[in-house]
Amino acid sequence: MQLLLTLVTFASMAFAQTVHTVSVASTGLTFTPDSITAKTGDTIRFVFKGGNHTVTQAAFNSPCNPITKGFFSGFTGSKSESFSIILENTNPIYFYCAQSTHCQLGMVGAINPPSTGNTLAAFKTAAMNARTQSTPSSPYGGVISVQGGAVSTAPGAVQSGGGSTTAAATNPGGKAATSTGGSQPKPTGNGVAALTGDVAKVVMGIFGAVALIV
Ligand SMILES: *[C@@H]1O[C@H](CO)[C@@H](O)[C@H](O)[C@H]1NC(C)=O
Repeated sequence: MQLLLTLVTFASMAFAQTVHTVSVASTGLTFTPDSITAKTGDTIRFVFKGGNHTVTQAAFNSPCNPITKGFFSGFTGSKSESFSIILENTNPIYFYCAQSTHCQLGMVGAINPPSTGNTLAAFKTAAMNARTQSTPSSPYGGVISVQGGAVSTAPGAVQSGGGSTTAAATNPGGKAATSTGGSQPKPTGNGVAALTGDVAKVVMGIFGAVALIV
């Protein structure tokens, strides 16, 4: 256990990674905050506060539709559920709630939006005028934690709390989701794609260490 803590601490220091928490539907149809400034390697953790919502990545030019490679949390409803993604760069990322007309009602947000041009305000206006809306069929591009599964300090690593259940989100067109039944999750698909190169290796190393220690 000591070794695990040391490894996790080392990983967090090595990548100076920050977790940014975004509340979903804490006050009506909102993401709070709806504009997040974050660095490469940072985690954005969307915490669902109730209701039946999603967080779904969209392209700026198509506000209420998913992009092929991005993320989709799936529909939630559990107050303790969260969905975490890790930034592989600081390019602007736009997202929306894919529930019925929530996008057109302005339930959108952005990570690292520019202050001119493709701003969050411009995206929101376009969303409210969007004629089409669509929803992916199953989650991808992030890690879902249910019932107190906490995001650890290691990039992409999710540590389950006592008795919690954590499932890795699916990869679009890739492998099926794996329910790990309370053991350590294996990030798949874009969750790992976000963890490129050495970062992914370190994270997998931590999972390996966990497997040896537990
Ligand atoms: C959440 O919303 C989706 C899409 O409208 C629906 O398919 C699903 O049944 C809902 N889930 C619950 C628990 O109401």
